[in-house]
Amino acid sequence: MKKILEVKNLSVESRESKKKILENISFEVDENSIYALVGPNGAGKSTLAYALMGAPRFRIIAGKIIFENKDITKTSIEKRAKMGIALAFQEPAYFENIRVKDFLKVGNKDISEKEIEKTLSLVGLDPKVFLNRKVNRQLSGGERKRIEFASIIAMKPKLMILDEPDSGLDIIIYREFYNILENIKRETKSSIILITHREEIGAICDKAGLLYKGKIIDEGDFRKVIREYCQIVNRKKICKGFKE
Ligand SMILES: Nc1ncnc2c1ncn2[C@@H]1O[C@H](COP(=O)(O)OP(=O)(O)OP(=O)(O)O)[C@@H](O)[C@H]1O
Ligand SMILES: [Mg+2]
Repeated sequence: MKKILEVKNLSVESRESKKKILENISFEVDENSIYALVGPNGAGKSTLAYALMGAPRFRIIAGKIIFENKDITKTSIEKRAKMGIALAFQEPAYFENIRVKDFLKVGNKDISEKEIEKTLSLVGLDPKVFLNRKVNRQLSGGERKRIEFASIIAMKPKLMILDEPDSGLDIIIYREFYNILENIKRETKSSIILITHREEIGAICDKAGLLYKGKIIDEGDFRKVIREYCQIVNRKKICKGFKE
């Protein structure tokens, strides 16, 4: 299996506070696969997402990031985006009053109207209804979430990093959310790193890693990793059904 991403012995600190947040992280993501990253609050999941994207507020103090066989450890965030890495933030910016179709062009100005329509369909939104709607507070939470997804898909990244895209998603039935991810995987051939707390996601993940106190302490089949996770945290809702 070809690798889209190889992370080798990566250690990361906050540039501002010099606090070491990630230590000796190693993992690989296969092409066209979904890699789930789980771990308790504060484990370092978002930091890892930012470090992979190349956000300047984190500094790589050791190790390497290899994307499509190229060493991007020192590559700027802009270049990484151009190379095909996209990050959906845990708390995305609020774009007031841009039309949906223009919002989808922000990350890819060359995208055709037809592709925009296809992208909206992929996330389960009727293009006829949504192309010209404004991205504002009148959209429901679920609709906003779908549009955020669509904006990432529109960039046609080779690797998308989704930081807890399912948080605050009560509105969408989870199954539908997984369908969207499966659509993305099938139709776009993108690889996905999915930061999530949801056990239900297991069915569509090819592999999972458990991040704890800045280290990957377990890796492999999602159910196995979630079981390990449940040993660490005591969150009844997530861990229900995963006790030995
Ligand atoms: N710029 C920073 N300076 C100092 N500490 C930071 C900085 N950014 C994050 N941290 C700390 O690093 C740790 C990891 O944070 P991070 O946001 O990566 O966790 P997380 O796994 O995404 O958690 P959550 O599940 O709550 O989103 C936390 O203890 C956090 O307070
Ligand atoms: Mg986080």
